[in-house]
Amino acid sequence: MFNEKLELKDFEKQDPEYQDLLRRVLAIQADCEIGGPNLYVKDILPNAPTKVDQLIVARTAAEEMDHYRKMAKCAGDIGVDVSYVLSWPNQKRYVEAFRGQITTWEDFAVFGFLIDRVGRYQLEEFIGASYQPLARIVEDPQVIREEEGHIDFGTNKAAEFAAKGGEAKERIQGAVDRWYAKGLDMFGRSESKRSERYMYWGLKRRTNGEARRQYTEEVNGLLKQMGLQIPDPNKGRLYT
Ligand SMILES: [Fe+2]
Ligand SMILES: [Fe+2]
Repeated sequence: MFNEKLELKDFEKQDPEYQDLLRRVLAIQADCEIGGPNLYVKDILPNAPTKVDQLIVARTAAEEMDHYRKMAKCAGDIGVDVSYVLSWPNQKRYVEAFRGQITTWEDFAVFGFLIDRVGRYQLEEFIGASYQPLARIVEDPQVIREEEGHIDFGTNKAAEFAAKGGEAKERIQGAVDRWYAKGLDMFGRSESKRSERYMYWGLKRRTNGEARRQYTEEVNGLLKQMGLQIPDPNKGRLYT
């Protein structure tokens, strides 16, 4: 187990595997940050149900763009230019959950409830990371606090729709059914060699399977509280 703490000046001296994994994780993280706004700004921003909701959509997008900026700076410092993810089509995103388009308010709410929550798990992986410039991005409370704001907004909206019952509840259940598998898939394969290497190099804290288990428990508890059905965790999955 590697337990050194590195700064930018140490990067060049590291094992090629370390360099590759760090480059890779930063490109993926940057892509996931900007992937959200690209899914919902176009249709959801102009059609938000109230002015306050509209402001929150805009603010959420702005915060993700700032998260992108921080990851992109960190990547740029080690020679990885991630500006291509700003303009490439959604279909090309590294992570499947970001490859579509969000067109309904229910999907926007559930995206915050389920997918931003995976985002929080991803960011938490970097707390205490061996690469200090990355660890500092997530240890500064701002980024994770903003992520929690997105999650809480989505969770509260989903709970409100569910509490209304009838058609509103059916629609929110439909959105949960659409996003649940995508959220579980975002953790990657449980039997991932790469996830072990990330841990070995101190670039992640949990295995994919562990993080997914914790997430599933958290989300299932919330779905129960909302009186919603827990979707079949094996349905619609790309990886297990
Ligand atoms: Fe974010
Ligand atoms: Fe977010």
